[in-house]
Amino acid sequence: MSEKLAIEGGNPVRTLPFGESHFFGDEDIEALSEVVRSGSLGKGPKVAQFEREFAARHGVAHVVTVTSGTAAMHTCVGAINPDPGDEIIVTPWTSGGSIIGSLLHNCVPVFADVDDTFTLDPADVEAKITPRTRATIAVHLFGNPCDMTALRAIADRHQLFLIEDCCQAHFAEFQGRVVGSMGDINGFSFGGKHLSAGGGGAVMTDNETLWERGLIFSDCALPRNGGPFEGRPYANYFLAPNYKLNDLMASVLLTQLNKVDGYIQKKIWAAQQIIEQVSHIDEITPQRVREGDRNSYWVMGMTLDTDKTECDAWEFAQALNHEGIPAGGPYIGSGKEGPLYRNQFLSEPNCYGRSRFPFDYKRAKPLDYRQIECPNGEKLMRRGFSLAMLPSFDDEDVADISAAIRKVFGRYRKRNCRGV
Ligand SMILES: Cc1ncc(COP(=O)(O)O)c(C=O)c1O
Repeated sequence: MSEKLAIEGGNPVRTLPFGESHFFGDEDIEALSEVVRSGSLGKGPKVAQFEREFAARHGVAHVVTVTSGTAAMHTCVGAINPDPGDEIIVTPWTSGGSIIGSLLHNCVPVFADVDDTFTLDPADVEAKITPRTRATIAVHLFGNPCDMTALRAIADRHQLFLIEDCCQAHFAEFQGRVVGSMGDINGFSFGGKHLSAGGGGAVMTDNETLWERGLIFSDCALPRNGGPFEGRPYANYFLAPNYKLNDLMASVLLTQLNKVDGYIQKKIWAAQQIIEQVSHIDEITPQRVREGDRNSYWVMGMTLDTDKTECDAWEFAQALNHEGIPAGGPYIGSGKEGPLYRNQFLSEPNCYGRSRFPFDYKRAKPLDYRQIECPNGEKLMRRGFSLAMLPSFDDEDVADISAAIRKVFGRYRKRNCRGV
């Protein structure tokens, strides 16, 4: 007899709340106070110090801080400066923030399928290349790195830019190399991810030309002392937003940079424990991590073999929530709402008034995102659910999470299945 689920009126596995996602303390308050006391809150020495330290931690030459991950991804595109209608290949299972900058730059996202790592399938990326392709955005989803060797080779073969979206993957590693150090120009979010100031972002590159353009792009294309346009008359040199970060946020990023390794170690530990504790359930498969890679587990993705259960993955996640375990769909929403090509800004489309721009720009037939399909990802995501990973997790927390998974699976499995 399986235990009665909380969603059906039974007792939940967990009644206590879980701990924090970040530890903010006196050192963060002191760092903020120092900036406030200085009377100079804007972009200044703390931003410069954080940019230096963050670059050094990644072994790259240049970091430009910005106001969000969305701003970071926009700055990456602004730096490579594509033409309207140019195509940028990307996974559809990601935040809108991965592609909003491309759209604001009047580029069109072209979606390639994903594999069981939940990241881009390089073969499908190559199949989607056209004469108008300018770049690929490699999104390291949930903290799991893309196959950067394959994506780099494709980018080089076709002379494309390779952009990493590291927003969810701070200090993840592909075959020993930290993410953010392999693409031509790469973006980070500090809005509640591993390293967080409640907002903010960064762009990282080794390429001097991209750095100069990215830096100027993030600052209204104005000439500044010490910057690449120093000495020029004061003017806006091209169309660019103001994405500058300030010293208040940079001061918190500096204190948090001392803590982020601890957060990541704890998330990895928790993920491995949970994987181990439910490993006897063949019908549940964690997001595949390539041997030699380091997933930094912003969250943990799993798939459920729904042929063998009486529930779908979304119902499974809902049942876990009722057991007191923070769980969600495969990405945002239930898996029916995602992927991005089903979001209204593409499927309607309604980017610029009632026009179809940029999807009809210099095209005989406008791109119609309602026709797009990524079959592997669709299948995977119909079966996907995700678990929050917190640096505050302890033995008891992971035991509760694993127990809830076993309980929910035990109730929903079809009778002829093994496990539990
Ligand atoms: C993969 C990815 N890219 C971009 C973004 C946008 O970052 P932000 O929310 O800081 O604008 C996010 C945010 O969740 C993200 O997860």
